[in-house]
Amino acid sequence: MIKNETPSSTIEQKVGEEVIQGLTQTQKTLPAKYLYDARGSELFEQICDLPEYYPTRTEAAILRQYAPEIVQITGVCELVELGSGSSTKTRLLLDAYQNLGQSGKYVPIDVSESILQSSALQLQKDYPNLQIEAFVGTYEQALAQFQPTSFPARMIFFLGSSIGNFTPQECDRFLQQVTTVLAPGDYFLIGLDLQKPQPILEAAYNDAQGVTAAFNLNILSHLNWRFQGNFDLNLFTHQAIYNQANAQIEMHLYSQASHSVSLNDLNLDISFQAGESILTEISRKFDLETIQAQLAAKGLNTVRIWTDEQQWFGLILCQA
Ligand code: AVJ
Repeated sequence: MIKNETPSSTIEQKVGEEVIQGLTQTQKTLPAKYLYDARGSELFEQICDLPEYYPTRTEAAILRQYAPEIVQITGVCELVELGSGSSTKTRLLLDAYQNLGQSGKYVPIDVSESILQSSALQLQKDYPNLQIEAFVGTYEQALAQFQPTSFPARMIFFLGSSIGNFTPQECDRFLQQVTTVLAPGDYFLIGLDLQKPQPILEAAYNDAQGVTAAFNLNILSHLNWRFQGNFDLNLFTHQAIYNQANAQIEMHLYSQASHSVSLNDLNLDISFQAGESILTEISRKFDLETIQAQLAAKGLNTVRIWTDEQQWFGLILCQA
């Protein structure tokens, strides 16, 4: 069911290089994908239910209302989900596709094997006629291994505005990889968190219960076990800031004291000044016109756009 042929030693080596590179820059950074280990994925599920975190429920409401329209446009297809997580919102789509009466195929892709395993198992029980082929790995690894589909069409979908994690450059590269996998007529469905007033955005990433703080700090625990590190989580505090000029939330971990940290497996010693931060994740907020132009530049033409009443979140269906 789950396959990824990339040797794990190759992955570990690359991970190490990225971590060294990120932590030796003036503004220290870490790759956001390391937030999403088993514990991080669990915490992210909790974030999705927070009162301040509007994206999940807003996108789910749009999907609940318009999934039948999406299905009507695409017809039966092979569904490929990037960053499937618990596949909760996916069920809204799968239900609608099930109404077509033909059995389809679902390919969930995620870096967290544990969440993928449990959600694929549960989905198989609930959708016995659905062919499920999960893939553990990064988007890059997943997109590199696709063969032509035997279905009338393929739809790659990327929900939750996870594309917002990419810098504009990374986003461009990513969209290029997506188009490469799509044959003419195939679909790409993308969920986008839209630009809105700063207080709403900052509240969504600095929740009162501190779940987002725990999620952010977990990246340090992840580094500790993965690279024999000695990050003291008590010496860092979480804060998310909206950078208006770049229309992006920036999640930081601020060092409370001047101190140093070692990652033994990487032979790396890093020193922190009091007040210095590690940037762990960006979450870009989109403008529908601009992103449509970027998609079109990659040969992905808008078929239909759906939003909620407040225009807080958008779904774009495009076709190659
Ligand atoms: C999963 C990347 C879409 O950017 O809103 C939520 C991640 N981080 N709260 C987002 C996240 C902190 C989330 N994405």
